[in-house]
Amino acid sequence: MVKNGKILIAKADEKELFLLPKMANRHGLIAGATGSGKTVTLKVLAESFSEMGVPVFLADVKGDLAGMVCEGSGMEERIEKFGLSDEGFSYKKFPATFWDLYGKNGIQLRTTVSEMGPILLSRILGLNDLQSDILTIAFRIADENGWFLFDTKDLKALLNELSNNNKDYAEEYGKMSPQSISAILRSVVSLETQGGDIFFGEPALNITDFFKTDTDGRGMINILDAQGLIGNGILYSTFLLWMLSELFENLPEVGDLEKPKMVFFFDEAHLLFKDTSKALTDKIEQVVKLIRSKGVGVYFITQNPKDIPDGVLAQLGNKIQHALHAYTPADQKAVKAAAESFRENPSFSTFDAIMELGTGEGVISCLDEGGIPCICERAYVLPPMSRIGGIDDSMRDNIIKSSIMYSVYANAVDNDSAFEMLKRKGILDAKEAEKAKEEEALRKAKEKEEAAQLKAQQRAAEAEIRREEREKEREAAAKKRAAKSVASTLTGTVGREVGKNFGKSFGKFGKTLGGNIGASLGRGIIGTLFKS
Ligand SMILES: Nc1ncnc2c1ncn2[C@@H]1O[C@H](COP(=O)(O)OP(=O)(O)OP(=O)(O)O)[C@@H](O)[C@H]1O
Ligand SMILES: [Mg+2]
Repeated sequence: MVKNGKILIAKADEKELFLLPKMANRHGLIAGATGSGKTVTLKVLAESFSEMGVPVFLADVKGDLAGMVCEGSGMEERIEKFGLSDEGFSYKKFPATFWDLYGKNGIQLRTTVSEMGPILLSRILGLNDLQSDILTIAFRIADENGWFLFDTKDLKALLNELSNNNKDYAEEYGKMSPQSISAILRSVVSLETQGGDIFFGEPALNITDFFKTDTDGRGMINILDAQGLIGNGILYSTFLLWMLSELFENLPEVGDLEKPKMVFFFDEAHLLFKDTSKALTDKIEQVVKLIRSKGVGVYFITQNPKDIPDGVLAQLGNKIQHALHAYTPADQKAVKAAAESFRENPSFSTFDAIMELGTGEGVISCLDEGGIPCICERAYVLPPMSRIGGIDDSMRDNIIKSSIMYSVYANAVDNDSAFEMLKRKGILDAKEAEKAKEEEALRKAKEKEEAAQLKAQQRAAEAEIRREEREKEREAAAKKRAAKSVASTLTGTVGREVGKNFGKSFGKFGKTLGGNIGASLGRGIIGTLFKS
């Protein structure tokens, strides 16, 4: 509850332990064994932030946070013990918006594939380093080509495009083995089979929709139903991580404010760091460090502080440690580490206290005005003002449907994105290929025709040459013949003349000897002699 502008968390005899709103962005830790009181402490904090007008986000892992929309009950013993009624404590219900990645127990919470980004998506898809690199390149290609990646359909279309036109992309982006692309595709299909495709699409969550207050100015308590989600630790933690990075990317720098702009509770935080690469752990550490100056406080809730990497743990200024058991030497080591993370109170042993704490009791240390951790105190956390536990379905349904957010996010829309764009590109490519094929056929036909024409011209030219040669030969022959015939005419005439004269003489002689026979004979013999 809020007292004098500060969050009263716990009481011990006369002592009151406060969380200072201006130090609430220095993050926090709520740790403790099962049943030790972590969830109730989270509720107490969330209620106080809401009362101060600070919206919160929390994941309801066991379904026992939904009751925040109802007034509490049954806390009389604690109320009395700490005289809380006199302090203004009363049972209250709080404004809440229910969200659900599966869209059943809350308003559908979605993001787009591109907003999730390749690093977090690789984690969800369980990709190895090589596949993760390929996915990063695929995102770059999509970006450069203006192909929007909204849902898993878009992602599959993109992967198919890269696989089908592998060589085209290899030159600019390096070789992406089709086997690796297929492996990524299979992971996407497997995510779809598990119903994971429902988280991706539009309308995607506008993170500023978490920053709402009700008509009384109380901060909205955004409750993510994580009952089904917790079965898939990677998906659950990656989504929360995505939200954190969205907050980080979208909020402006504000420095230290009088109270945070928003508080983010990360329940079952050990899941966040389970099977997480060093690179991602470093990123989480960086986001946690930097988000502070954006006015966002992050509170990790986990069984054992050792579940959280040292680099992150060191940044959690406000700590509430509930009971831890120490049955084994390993347990004892964990308790020792938890105890040593506190500023020792000389009046008791932190190590012993952690093992002795009762339900709803904790070893607590928050930051003082100067940002220095206070000496730890052992105290009882206040009871919650709202109901511990769940709510029935019809009540939940009413709250969901009456939320203004329901009208914004209930129905998915399938906007024009990579799937449609690549389909069009495919049709275009096919048309272009067809056109190119036709052009090639035309070009070949033209080439053939030209070759035929050339051949015909060559043949004609050759024929002409041959004709000319023959002509020349004929002329030469004619000349030759002409020369011969001149010669033969000459010789013929001479012969004839000689023959005639000789014949005449011989005729005369023949006549004398025997008439015409003798003349003919004489002409024939002399003619033949000259002709041959
Ligand atoms: N501050 C408190 N005031 C009153 N009752 C409390 C308080 N803290 C815890 N309790 C009681 O203890 C029960 C268990 O607490 P809680 O559910 O917070 O444990 P938890 O540490 O979250 O356990 P788990 O790890 O199983 O989730 C509560 O249902 C409530 O009855
Ligand atoms: Mg709990």
